[in-house]
Amino acid sequence: MTTIKACIFDLDGVIVDTAVYHYKAWKRLANELGFDITEEQNENLKGVSRMRSLDLVLQWGGVTKTDAEKEELATRKNTWYVEMINKMTPDEILPGAKEFLQACIDAGLKTALGSASKNSATILEKVGIAHFFNVVIDGNKVSKPKPDPEVFLKGAEELGIPAENCVVFEDAIAGVEAAHNGGMKAVGIGSPQVLTEADLVISGLDKMTLVKLKEL
Ligand code: BG6
Ligand code: MG
Repeated sequence: MTTIKACIFDLDGVIVDTAVYHYKAWKRLANELGFDITEEQNENLKGVSRMRSLDLVLQWGGVTKTDAEKEELATRKNTWYVEMINKMTPDEILPGAKEFLQACIDAGLKTALGSASKNSATILEKVGIAHFFNVVIDGNKVSKPKPDPEVFLKGAEELGIPAENCVVFEDAIAGVEAAHNGGMKAVGIGSPQVLTEADLVISGLDKMTLVKLKEL
């Protein structure tokens, strides 16, 4: 059993379901390039950085582009994505997320966001939950993508809590791996068949409790 002093939350797929917007934007880009992507393929884009996602999409379409063209394509996709997240409202917060964050705060635990997204500030502002986090580490502050633990280690450092006293909440396989690589516990959000390495898997934060946290 570990003494948990801080909870670090991934954003996309844990606090809000933005995966659907990422999917729509990648699909639109693929369609403009003359092919399509499926929802199954989209699963592989979860937790993956923007440029790595683009590489995968282009690979699926059998398309090769120069670095300059890739920059332009990634920007195009992001413009559509930002248009969608700009319309997000507080009722897009996933069930139980706000309640569990509040329970953590009430119990004296520190909270951080640990996301690969460069758009986290927009999302937090649109859904109105920025105030729940002591620290926000996102794609603008890190250079190494998950499964590298950089994003979570930076979060722990800024919170002033040792890694072994932190638990990470993640919906992506690479995110669970990143937590473990950083010496942290990982609670998987999703299916136990997918998140096989997580210390505990729940379907959503509505199923999380402080008792389960203590038992990790
Ligand atoms: C992750 C998402 O949180 O952020 C990925 O799961 C996404 O799908 C990545 O590609 C980067 O996000 P953004 O907003 O910087 O393009
Ligand atoms: Mg995620």
